[in-house]
Amino acid sequence: MNPYLIDFPILQEKATEKRLVYLDNAATTQKPLSVIKAVEEYYRASNANPYRGLYQLSVKATQEYENARHTVNEFIGAEDDSEIIFTRNATESLNLVAYSYGLPFLQKGDEITLSVMEHHSNLVPWQMVAKAKGVKLNFLYPDATGHFTDEEIEKKITQNTKLVAVTYVSNVLGTVNPVAKIIDTAHSAGAVVVLDCAQSIPHFPLNVKDLDVDFAAFSGHKMLAPMGIGVLYGKKMLLEKMPPFLTGGEMIEYVYEQDATFAQLPQKFEAGTPNVGGAVGMAEAIRYLQKVGYDTIQKTESELLAYTLQGLSGIPHVTVYGDTASTRNRCGVISFNVDDVHPHDVATILNEDGVAVRAGHHCAQPLMRFLNVNATCRLSLYFYNTKEDIDIFLESLKKVRGWLGYGA
Ligand SMILES: Cc1ncc(COP(=O)(O)O)c(C=O)c1O
Repeated sequence: MNPYLIDFPILQEKATEKRLVYLDNAATTQKPLSVIKAVEEYYRASNANPYRGLYQLSVKATQEYENARHTVNEFIGAEDDSEIIFTRNATESLNLVAYSYGLPFLQKGDEITLSVMEHHSNLVPWQMVAKAKGVKLNFLYPDATGHFTDEEIEKKITQNTKLVAVTYVSNVLGTVNPVAKIIDTAHSAGAVVVLDCAQSIPHFPLNVKDLDVDFAAFSGHKMLAPMGIGVLYGKKMLLEKMPPFLTGGEMIEYVYEQDATFAQLPQKFEAGTPNVGGAVGMAEAIRYLQKVGYDTIQKTESELLAYTLQGLSGIPHVTVYGDTASTRNRCGVISFNVDDVHPHDVATILNEDGVAVRAGHHCAQPLMRFLNVNATCRLSLYFYNTKEDIDIFLESLKKVRGWLGYGA
């Protein structure tokens, strides 16, 4: 029995007629009761518009919001609370860097290095910068097992590279990328590094100071927190020289008819009324994650990953993408296809058994093209999953081709 299952009310509910087997954790994670309660408690006892009110309740809301910022700061080892910018999600965090760093500081002839496995959120914003500024985009390509070699990194990050934006963990292949090597190579070339941590922070600790990364982006909802809250970490000296991204209330100092000056960090980047309830939920999610511990999370997931890969290898007509031989430098995200069956059909049939997996291009169309497929099915694990979940998934998957009239 997984001791954490009991903390997640939704996992006690039935999907269709069957127990919910939730294997779409890379899309979003389920929420523990403590997070649900913390958000509820905020709305019951502390809700007010922060910063604006001089009355007690507004001061309380401001304190809760700033306490949440401090919790995030300590969680990722930043230097100062002002380096933590609350956003809506990783997508907004990455856009913030593209628009407020990429547009003003990159010039025609500069180059950006991305990887072919980027989520569209860490690709399309850079395409906008490239088009606006005449910047060239270069791409890292993985080897046959889904990993970037040192040679590839050294070839694609050069003296012309001014910015490197890569994902820590692939949302399709589960590959854990060699970010220390990438950051080191980028800094030697004088480039700044933007790390997309959306898929890493649910599974691995992030210490921005140890990594010496310049920017890091992640979403709350993939790490047990509510939807609608995300984080951008940025080194203070970079954030300070960047112009605001969104403008309006809360982010100003003085406003005149024709001009305005801007607030200090982090308010400069937090225009409008913030998601205080979301930030409170994120702080509680961090406390919960710390209670479980990344060691437990990794141990549970890596056992389940090995078990799932082993099970899949015994089912004919199933192709698994990425590294199938080893669970090293690999997270519990598995993309696969069944011969002759569209991934949407696979996911629909699995749903009949209560199994929730994702099917499609996973917002990573360039990677789909690189893998020579239009789409895949994707199973993604978290520490509250069990071997029983995997057994139900495998048994259901075995039935897929038969349902559609194909032989075994
Ligand atoms: C690697 C990666 N980056 C960025 C995102 C975007 O996250 P969000 O939709 O929460 O902004 C995702 C979402 O799946 C992702 O997997």
